[in-house]
Amino acid sequence: MYILGLSCFYHDSAACLLHNGVPVAACDEQAFTRKKHDPDFPVQAIRWCLATAGIEAKDIAAVAFYDKPLWKFERMLKSQIATFPRSFSQFIKGMPSWFATKLRLDKLLEDDLGYKGPIFYGQHHLSHAASAFYCSGFEESAVLTVDGVGEWATTSWGVGRDRRIELKGELRFPHSLGLLYSAMTYYIGFKVNSAEYKVMGLAPYGKPEYVDRIKQLIDIKDDGTFRLDMQYFDFDHGMRMYNEGLERVMGQPTRPLETGELTQFHKDVARSLQEVVDEVMVKLARRVLDETGMNKLCLAGGVALNCVANGHILRQTGVQDIFIQPSAGDAGGAMGAALWAWHDLLDKPRAWKLDQAYLGPGYSDDEVQATLDRYGAVYTRLDRQPLLDRVAELIDSAQVVGFYQGRMEWGPRALGHRSILGDARHPEMREIINRKIKMREGFRPFAPSVLEEDIGHYFEIDRPSPHMLLVAPVRPEHRNLHAITHVDHSARIQSINREQDALYYDLIATFKQRTGCSVVINTSMNVRGEPIVNTPDDAYRCFMRTEMDAIAMGSFLLLKSDQPRLELKSAQEEFGLD
Ligand SMILES: [Fe+2]
Repeated sequence: MYILGLSCFYHDSAACLLHNGVPVAACDEQAFTRKKHDPDFPVQAIRWCLATAGIEAKDIAAVAFYDKPLWKFERMLKSQIATFPRSFSQFIKGMPSWFATKLRLDKLLEDDLGYKGPIFYGQHHLSHAASAFYCSGFEESAVLTVDGVGEWATTSWGVGRDRRIELKGELRFPHSLGLLYSAMTYYIGFKVNSAEYKVMGLAPYGKPEYVDRIKQLIDIKDDGTFRLDMQYFDFDHGMRMYNEGLERVMGQPTRPLETGELTQFHKDVARSLQEVVDEVMVKLARRVLDETGMNKLCLAGGVALNCVANGHILRQTGVQDIFIQPSAGDAGGAMGAALWAWHDLLDKPRAWKLDQAYLGPGYSDDEVQATLDRYGAVYTRLDRQPLLDRVAELIDSAQVVGFYQGRMEWGPRALGHRSILGDARHPEMREIINRKIKMREGFRPFAPSVLEEDIGHYFEIDRPSPHMLLVAPVRPEHRNLHAITHVDHSARIQSINREQDALYYDLIATFKQRTGCSVVINTSMNVRGEPIVNTPDDAYRCFMRTEMDAIAMGSFLLLKSDQPRLELKSAQEEFGLD
């Protein structure tokens, strides 16, 4: 039986296909449209899911949607009326698209795909909760979901047991940690719903000077529940996130988007915000663990992508085990809704857990070769071990190497299939990759990939971190791994074992054999403003557009110095900046 899960119309639309309860294909629409955070009906991702399973729309038993559009509509309607007439222009602007698309999913499914079967509407936070709990492999656990807003809930908690998830409590719009984070992201001069992770990366450069000021905006109770002081925020009724009152509290005007100077003040605000998020998340986690009597925790929702806070939960709550959905944002709701339909509605037993996130599109060597030939690319085909030897050698000699292999990752992190790799030991590698490849802010460090059995050797953590969603301190004796060590000596870690991915594991093992070091820099293969590469065509163009020195695409190794000239639009022209 096939169930199709969908998430769309807000941001980061995605599709996920279950076969007998197991995800066989899951991907964001942006991978196909190349439009970052594409919110539209994910028709290409759906078509790809069906093609991957070799089925047609009529073979789908049910579609599960990640939230309840009518509830969301009710929330919008009520909050607009509450602040009428201030809010009228935003409301009128939003109306047509709600009626045309968001309330007519059935019509889109029929018109675009010929699907006429049942549609189950999940609940936004239940979809998030399901995306974590049903993937965790835990028989029972506490569940915590924190995001911007779904229908009404912005935070919810409860307990998962076998086939059921019971949400026991929630905080409601407009009181939202995610929206506070987004508001402060905008205040620091970054794009909302897109660049929140930059704020997290900036935080370690600052001091928590402004915690008290941020706490004028949010009142945090001991049990982790909170209220925003709505005199400072406009997102419930206006076209902007906040008003001058917030700027007065913080003491400076908003930094102009992406263009203003990034000063120590902004770093201090980012750090202060992180402290507040850490405090709320740790308190909420404690509360839900206490209330449910569980010793395991599942996390999802956009705020669960804050791997710094996740690391604090792990270290400060005494939780025995933690699972974080790799696609913790709204895209992940597609997988959650489908799993909820399977286990809860259809009452099917659990027999699967998400060990690895390689559920996206993959391309055969023949497809890679056809693309390379079309570009007249110069390549060498190598057997498996010679390819790994060569890539390890290139990384060891300070080259920046693309590693484009197998199926694309589910979630916003590249985990060794759509990655750019570098030598973490090299003192200048952070600057080199930031400048040559990513064309991005120099302050941002890179994440390490490490062999799972060596994680505790390099980092102060006692468990795997397979989806790069935990931050932990780098051990003092390894802080010379400059490129992956943040100024506060932390790192955002991906551990890898051979069952998750033999090729990537063997590559790092080969590098270790050669150098004694089982850590490499792993950053996603894309330029600034571009979604992570999907097809071989995307990968080759990314290779040619940047100063990547070499790339291994499937069995093919390409050196930049061998390639013919290729005229491409600038990345900024093609994708814009994020
Ligand atoms: Fe959400």
